[in-house]
Amino acid sequence: MALKSGETVIRFENVKKIYTNKSGLAYVALNGVSFEIKRGEFVAVMGPSGSGKTTILDLMGTLDTPTSGTITIVGKKASEMNGSELADLRNEEIGFVFQSYNLVSYLSAIQNVMLPTMVSRKRDSEVMKNAVKLMTEVGLGEKLEKKPNELSGGEQQRVAVVRALVNNPKVLLADEPTGNLDTKSAIAVLQILTRINRDFGTTIVLSTHDPEVGIFAKRRIFIRDGLLTNENMMAKLSDTKKL
Ligand SMILES: Nc1ncnc2c1ncn2[C@@H]1O[C@H](COP(=O)(O)OP(=O)(O)O)[C@@H](O)[C@H]1O
Ligand SMILES: [Mg+2]
Repeated sequence: MALKSGETVIRFENVKKIYTNKSGLAYVALNGVSFEIKRGEFVAVMGPSGSGKTTILDLMGTLDTPTSGTITIVGKKASEMNGSELADLRNEEIGFVFQSYNLVSYLSAIQNVMLPTMVSRKRDSEVMKNAVKLMTEVGLGEKLEKKPNELSGGEQQRVAVVRALVNNPKVLLADEPTGNLDTKSAIAVLQILTRINRDFGTTIVLSTHDPEVGIFAKRRIFIRDGLLTNENMMAKLSDTKKL
């Protein structure tokens, strides 16, 4: 679907997510969350561990469904899409990057990158050219044939970023993408995300608990105890802790 600049790509309206554990106990992870993300934005979803960041990103990526409320992704209500429409959306419009790189250990870096294209309907040679170009851009042009265990954590995460981009998604969702990385590798990954956002106009949403990671985004959404909050309130809370 073609999108105009400034158009909303993700909309949450009063979204609640209640998890029920095996003993039937309900846990309110999101307690009525509303926000919009426009095409071309680079947003950080920020909050402490357990605040609901992964829940938000999973819902954005239609990997999970809300208990109530409405989620609209690329102009379509997630609740009104059937299984194959959701699969197409996830394969073609959304790229995912996770904290644990989730690479397939017995495939080379370039084979890992090509994996998502096996379900899309794009021409092989074109996709391969694009994949090699992206790998070169992230500094891995010489490491196409390496297996994940021959790469550093930062290199593996860059492979995962390229894998998420290979179908030219409109939205890139990155859940704590630098959570397992040393500072230098984290900065390299964040610089790549910044460039992708700037050069391709890809909408990026990343989650992090780390304010130093959050500053790479152009806008920050703060979540605490399943509710959106604002930065000042977070600062006040951290001041209180210091006393
Ligand atoms: N499948 C689940 N079943 C029960 N509780 C869950 C489940 N997933 C997450 N939670 C709980 O929901 C809250 C928010 O989780 P999550 O979105 O993973 O937070 P974050 O990513 O910010 O650390 C946490 O308290 C977590 O324990
Ligand atoms: Mg999380």
